[in-house]
Amino acid sequence: MRIILGVTGGIAAYKAADLARSLVREGHEVQPVLTRSAEEFVSAVTFASLTGKKVLTNLFEPSAAIEHIDVAQGNDLLLVAPATANILAEFAHGLAGGFLSTLYLAFRGPVILAPAMNTNMWEHDATRANLETLRRRGHVIVEPGVGMLACGTFGAGRLAENEAILDAVRRVVNPVVRDLEGEIVLITAGPTQETIDPVRYISNRSSGKMGYALAEAAVERGAKVILVSGPVALDAPRGVEMVRVRTAAEMRTAVFAKLEPATVVIKCAAVADYRPAAPADRKIKKKGAAVTLELAPVGDILAELGQTHGNRLLVGFAAETDNLLEYARRKLEEKNCDMIVANRVGGEGSAFESDTNEVFLVMKGGEVIEVPRASKRAIADRILGQIVRLSQGVAVTR
Ligand code: CTP
Repeated sequence: MRIILGVTGGIAAYKAADLARSLVREGHEVQPVLTRSAEEFVSAVTFASLTGKKVLTNLFEPSAAIEHIDVAQGNDLLLVAPATANILAEFAHGLAGGFLSTLYLAFRGPVILAPAMNTNMWEHDATRANLETLRRRGHVIVEPGVGMLACGTFGAGRLAENEAILDAVRRVVNPVVRDLEGEIVLITAGPTQETIDPVRYISNRSSGKMGYALAEAAVERGAKVILVSGPVALDAPRGVEMVRVRTAAEMRTAVFAKLEPATVVIKCAAVADYRPAAPADRKIKKKGAAVTLELAPVGDILAELGQTHGNRLLVGFAAETDNLLEYARRKLEEKNCDMIVANRVGGEGSAFESDTNEVFLVMKGGEVIEVPRASKRAIADRILGQIVRLSQGVAVTR
């Protein structure tokens, strides 16, 4: 595919060089376009050497008179990474002050935007409104991640990892098949929080990214998706019915309230196994001595679903530090699931808080499918692919 890679001015511009190289490696022809401010951060020479193309930068070079039209017509995809708040605003409003924004207006193909900016700029109503306009126009927005930003603040706005941007490109290159049309997929995601007192709780390091990636992928494949989510720092994926919960008990209530029409249930959430037996209704004051917190077991939602899942496909997750496959197989049996997605946690390669993951899909019937490290979105598609296979089997055998 012939891809225009627009690079705009931000600290993350240096990451676009690696992106250019990966795109070339995946067999694409890449035409880099740098805005004036991008040139303050990265050199055109880098992009020229990585792509073997003349880097386009300025609308007013003598030979550039109709270059933006030629480039727009001679390419299949426009990808802008990083996309600043300014370029989003220019695109949203059709301003054509620079080469890239002029090119954008003349371009008829699919557009992918990977924004990166300071958290306040990202959250500003003006940016929100511009993003909404761009989404409505059908453009793909690769959501920025949460983390420590170059400006020293912590929050959303960090350029998505290159693997996530490459995935968005791959989805344009190989459009998804709507093979989950007619399915109603109930997904749980994120951690739960179990109250200790009005200011404290017990929780875990689940970011919700895997469950949200599953929800997003299932929507794209044509499913109706209900996402029951514990507290996470992620925007609701487009087109899903969101149910936000906090505790394991609330998650259980939400799951059973939404269960009836569901044809597939994916229990991705990292639900607490224990909760404080007697949450205090006033803040517990510190004392010199050690304290003991009594914990009571929390009912296992997945196991309960396993008792009654009928024709519904039931997919559980197993997060283990050791004996991954053995425990996963045991969970599959004990909780009566059709598939367990087994993650390794702790140490290198841990799934928690990461944008990537590597898993084993342990199937009822004994098959084990190894899914090597990839973005959570790519893993989500592999899981859903197996669900499609199972649901076709279900139609025949059950
Ligand atoms: N799960 C659930 N309700 C709970 C606990 C877990 O539905 N109260 C589900 C999770 O959503 C996940 C699966 O059970 O799909 C596995 O959870 P995991 O944390 O791996 O382990 P546990 O079942 O709690 O087992 P272990 O005792 O090995 O930690």
